[in-house]
Amino acid sequence: MANILVTGGAGYIGAHTVRALLARGEHAVIYDTLATSKAETIGKLEREGAVTFVQGDISDTARLDQVFATHPIDAVIHFAAWKNAGESMLKPAKYFENNVAGTNRLLDSIQRAGVRRIVFSGSCSVYGTPARLPVDESFPLGPESVYAHTKLMGEQVMDWFDRRHSVRYVSLRYFNAAGASADGLIGEEPAQSANLIPVVMEATLGRRPKIQVFGDDYPTPDGTCIRDYIHVSDLADAHVRALDFMAREDRSDIFNVGTGEGTSVKQIIDVTERVSGRTVPAEIVGRRAGDPVAIYADNTKARTVLGWAPQYGLEAIIAHAWNWHKSIG
Ligand code: WQD
Repeated sequence: MANILVTGGAGYIGAHTVRALLARGEHAVIYDTLATSKAETIGKLEREGAVTFVQGDISDTARLDQVFATHPIDAVIHFAAWKNAGESMLKPAKYFENNVAGTNRLLDSIQRAGVRRIVFSGSCSVYGTPARLPVDESFPLGPESVYAHTKLMGEQVMDWFDRRHSVRYVSLRYFNAAGASADGLIGEEPAQSANLIPVVMEATLGRRPKIQVFGDDYPTPDGTCIRDYIHVSDLADAHVRALDFMAREDRSDIFNVGTGEGTSVKQIIDVTERVSGRTVPAEIVGRRAGDPVAIYADNTKARTVLGWAPQYGLEAIIAHAWNWHKSIG
């Protein structure tokens, strides 16, 4: 049984990844402030396998060092970060402090403890608006928000810890994380999210007046923006494979984690109406500043090097999200 430290392990993608680790019989040490997640999630995970919970901040070096001294950690999966791109433009310091300085402190604790492997929550937002599609890992980088830039800086800081301290890293550049666990146990907290699918679900359930569609005059087939929605359980699986990859190859690398399929905002609404049997109250409003017209992944590298492949398509993403949002009302 390996001991895996999971920062942000009570959060949306973190909790799904902890579940995937527990299913393999690993021991997950969850390190989380619970600032944007719930203690209830920890309770659910504890019933699934070997979980130790430590409430703490990645910037609290003394506390982190204590965790490494108490548990023989084999590898770290690092989710803890602020993730709202819009907010990052209003509060840059908040994002640089937690996402960059916090990651640096975590890496310093990691290398002092003699741990040599970390999986990092990267982001497709590091590509900005790609010149052509689909986007692969060799594309030029051009973050268009402070948030995106902190994710790029995280990769750069890790690269120096690799070169100077042999701490190997895998950065998984997530496309649009979506859905919930197939059995309905865990999912995304709608209060923490302004992302499209949670907003569509809450509007369909009457908990919000409507979904505002940010622009229908884009140069796409139906005029709305195109994204690559990837099931959260498929993302979780990529983390487990990233751990295996580093154990096998003892080197660092970066992977896109998306389905390779582009889906428009209108298609999300249509599938939600079909799955739920309800009408989605929607209103077309103006474009949102900073929205790329279209982005979806070339995931060839994750498929060939990690042996990863998405198991869930759009229907399952929407069906699982619908079940989850209904259940938490
Ligand atoms: C999706 C689409 C909106 C809300 C986020 C992160 C990014 C990256 C991927 C990880 C867009 C439209 C949304 C609404 C709408 N992930 N929309 N009405 O902006 O693609 O990217 O996930 O790091 O960094 O920011 O996600 O869910 O906000 O938007 O019309 O109320 O839905 O315009 O086209 P986004 P999103």
